[in-house]
Amino acid sequence: MTAPVKAARRLGPGACIGVLGGGQLGRMMAVAARRMGYRVVVLDPNPRCPTAQVSDGVVVGALDDLEAAERLAAQVDVVTLDTEHVPSDVLETLETLVPVRPGSQVLRTIQDRLTQKQFLDRLGLPQATWAKVSSAEELQAAFAKVPRPAILKVRRAGYDGKGQVRINHDTEAEGALAALRGADAVLEQVVPFRRELSVILARSVSGDIAIYPLAENDHRRHVLHTTRAPAPVSAETRAAAEAIGVQIATTLGHIGVMAVELFELPDGQLLVNEIAPRTHNSGHYTYGACMTSQFEQHVRAVVGQPLGDPRSLTGAVMLNLIGDLWSRGKAPPWDEVFVLPEARLHLYGKDGVAPGRKMGHVLLLDDDTDRALARARQLSDKLGAGPPPEPPEPPEPAALPEAPAR
Ligand SMILES: Nc1ncnc2c1ncn2[C@@H]1O[C@H](COP(=O)(O)OP(=O)(O)OP(=O)(O)O)[C@@H](O)[C@H]1O
Ligand SMILES: [Mg+2]
Repeated sequence: MTAPVKAARRLGPGACIGVLGGGQLGRMMAVAARRMGYRVVVLDPNPRCPTAQVSDGVVVGALDDLEAAERLAAQVDVVTLDTEHVPSDVLETLETLVPVRPGSQVLRTIQDRLTQKQFLDRLGLPQATWAKVSSAEELQAAFAKVPRPAILKVRRAGYDGKGQVRINHDTEAEGALAALRGADAVLEQVVPFRRELSVILARSVSGDIAIYPLAENDHRRHVLHTTRAPAPVSAETRAAAEAIGVQIATTLGHIGVMAVELFELPDGQLLVNEIAPRTHNSGHYTYGACMTSQFEQHVRAVVGQPLGDPRSLTGAVMLNLIGDLWSRGKAPPWDEVFVLPEARLHLYGKDGVAPGRKMGHVLLLDDDTDRALARARQLSDKLGAGPPPEPPEPPEPAALPEAPAR
């Protein structure tokens, strides 16, 4: 058809990286890329999106706008993404023009919860019991397989718990389907996890893998609240988590950073919650605590360079700053952050504040991660964050996801 694919060689500084989606992940990736002398052009509907603010150029368009994506591809040497919600068909077309990392086959498997779960089943990896639900009849059939309480999750475009409804009793079936407005979904058993962990790794063009210290995650109202790394886990648990991550990344032929979210059960068994084929909120601690941040690592992978050292230089706790902090009509008291010498403030430059929206994070660097966690909780209170602690089990009926805008 059109122009030949640009050669997939190792790209050096001066080369241009195209990013599909202009959220905070793209922004931090762009900062890392530009530090190393790469150029960045982003595709996003908002010309002032967080990534555009620190990029060399922006193509304004929706993530499913193929013509806009082709205009981006024409300006860059390689394309990557900051969200898995870019239609895989768009990526497949771009692949005829320019290297796309990760590739369309990775996104095709992951961006639909159904195909992702089928993939994990094929690999023999344990997950919460689940069933496909596209109709009221299928939901009734799913009840025979999936114990309650359960969660109905939309198959596509979910994030931060959006598009999820908890079902405690069968009588709630109709309301749950109505809340998802007929969207195709999967039903999943609520897992009585002891804690949530995530393994962040990167896979290079040549198949090398670098694995970061395991992260321990605490969610509030389905949004990540804090991450502690390294997670205090046994060597066996760490090895098991890493093996799961490596198996997934290798089988998918993934290129770039990838996160695998895990539930650790009371008996120590690990279940896969979901896969994110990109840099991840629970990996933000690497940007400050590790020799190579997940953002530099992703850049290295997509430009075809060798991976950097993922080791951590210090323990760390990350506290997410969500829009609720601005609820009193003004910015939180940042002095409370700056007064802490071990704290690093990251703000994403988002132009609209909304409850639950991720506006930034604070990283607390401390080898004593118990102390850092206590400090993060105090800081969260001082900043006015405090959504009250929620019971360990998840969702109240949640809103459907909007257009991609984390
Ligand atoms: N089956 C489950 N059992 C117990 N808790 C769950 C289950 N599914 C989800 N949760 C809780 O809700 C959180 C968000 O769920 P999930 O990861 O599926 O959503 P998401 O919308 O993809 O979120 P994100 O993009 O932030 O990861 C989980 O991290 C966990 O705390
Ligand atoms: Mg998740």
